[in-house]
Amino acid sequence: MDNKTAFVDVLYDQLKDHLDKSKLNSMIEKPKKESMGDLAFPCFELAKVYRKSPQNIALELTKEMTLPNLFQNVEAVNGYVNVFLNKEEVSSYTIQKALSKKENYGNVNIGNKGVITIDFSSPNIAKPFSMGHLRSTVIGNALARISEKCGYNAIRINHLGDWGTQFGKLIVAYTLWGDEQKVKENPIKELLKLYVRFHEAAEQDEKLNDKGRQWFKKLEDGDERALELWSWFREESLQEFTKIYELLGVNFDSTHGEAFYNDKMDRVIQLLEEKKLLKESDQAKVVEIDDDLPPCLIKKRDGTTLYATRDLAAAIYRQDTYKFVRSLYVVGNEQTLHFKQLFLVLEKMGYKWHKGLKHVAFGMMLKDGKKMSTRKGKVVLLEDVLNDAITLAKNNIVEKNPTLDSKDNVARQVGTGAVIFHDLKNYRLNDIEFSLEDMLRFEGETGPYVQYTHARASSILRKGDYQESNDDVNISDVEAWSIIINLLDFPDAIKRAYEGSDPSQIAKYVLELAKAFNKYYGSVRILDDKEHKQSRLSLVHSVQIVLNEGLRLLGIEAPNEM
Ligand code: ARG
Repeated sequence: MDNKTAFVDVLYDQLKDHLDKSKLNSMIEKPKKESMGDLAFPCFELAKVYRKSPQNIALELTKEMTLPNLFQNVEAVNGYVNVFLNKEEVSSYTIQKALSKKENYGNVNIGNKGVITIDFSSPNIAKPFSMGHLRSTVIGNALARISEKCGYNAIRINHLGDWGTQFGKLIVAYTLWGDEQKVKENPIKELLKLYVRFHEAAEQDEKLNDKGRQWFKKLEDGDERALELWSWFREESLQEFTKIYELLGVNFDSTHGEAFYNDKMDRVIQLLEEKKLLKESDQAKVVEIDDDLPPCLIKKRDGTTLYATRDLAAAIYRQDTYKFVRSLYVVGNEQTLHFKQLFLVLEKMGYKWHKGLKHVAFGMMLKDGKKMSTRKGKVVLLEDVLNDAITLAKNNIVEKNPTLDSKDNVARQVGTGAVIFHDLKNYRLNDIEFSLEDMLRFEGETGPYVQYTHARASSILRKGDYQESNDDVNISDVEAWSIIINLLDFPDAIKRAYEGSDPSQIAKYVLELAKAFNKYYGSVRILDDKEHKQSRLSLVHSVQIVLNEGLRLLGIEAPNEM
């Protein structure tokens, strides 16, 4: 049982006539100062009921309290009941719990095996994988793992941007200026060049845009040449994206992109018509939404469908196929309006499951304070970024640990870990400044710092010839307490991360744990004292387990040596 629950039980004994357990649970606070104890119960609300001063109530409660041995002491101060944990008891309890549960430590069951679909990454075919897509990929991947840790069955969906007017434009550009050989050699770069050239030319020549729309119409109508070019562009792009997913260790259950819904759109439009939701506006079809939002465009004048139409079809398909209880869309905050409209249309269609939908928005990646954009061709290619990070990590490793085996694999783990952590340590809605040098520092708030701490713990276990045992753990080092407090908080950190769809909760958590551990390492000679060695190694092992698991939840590997 955790301390909070234990404290609730104690209070409930005395207060059951007035308060239920969940209310009590919500009232318990964490004192601001350590000298005020570990948990506090404020008596101000009860003071109104009893017509007594809060301090008197606190005094009465403490007088009659029987404390389980998790607690050492209880005090009434300024209208609060403050309890102090029995540090030795709590330490051994926490360490034993982590050691017995291993990577399952921190599992919390919120999901009851229900399905959560997570739409993430979702890059656009024939365009480079952008920083925004990197953000979506690492946030989504972490959320999938966090959801699984919370008892959900996560379905990872890559909703590829493989349909839409831009393919009409690309086909036009390719037929005008394309060179098959060049595209084969360097698909993403060449296709991007064509795309950029199209936009430059269209500024001079309005008709090009019309041509682009016509070709997209042909594509939707199944024109053979259009389909052939489209599927070639798609294949080439996917191969490039796969390299990135392999580097990052990310995989998907479904790569049904927008095109997949092409034959499912008529049904959606029919449903909208049956429910009398479709209105004509300017020869186009729209669904009007109250709420001061612009109407949601469903079908253009020329009969082609839109991004939103395909998302409607996708949401319905996912509900039919997976029966999800929750459905996340990890997409940049510039699409906030789109998702508001989408969810409202689904609500209007009468689908109760609309309540499980959530847009998990995030901010931009900036370079020198400016947005990194693909449109004008000023683009940082993600594969290059990852490879640069890996090279830099390798240089670091060669310098610090020249005799290490498997340098290349560790360099990959550290280089990608650095990029992922740099993103996830920030609350997702904040914009992030891109800086390879910052990401790769071994000190400070970086992925390599946490990985390094994990490797250090592993190395102490090796040096100390640690063998797991079931003996009692006795930790009396005062310096260990901040580690214990952190270890105890792990399940809550996971819950916070899940509830806020916020992996930064875990990134911050592993940073704190790593800091506490390094401080301990700096002040306690873990292996020197025979009497305490086994208990201290148990503590080190539980730190190693939790750092490893925390990093795993972020999508980062934890080498044992680096
Ligand atoms: N391909 C889109 C883009 O890059 C993101 C798709 C997100 N998912 C979705 N179901 N709309 O902007």
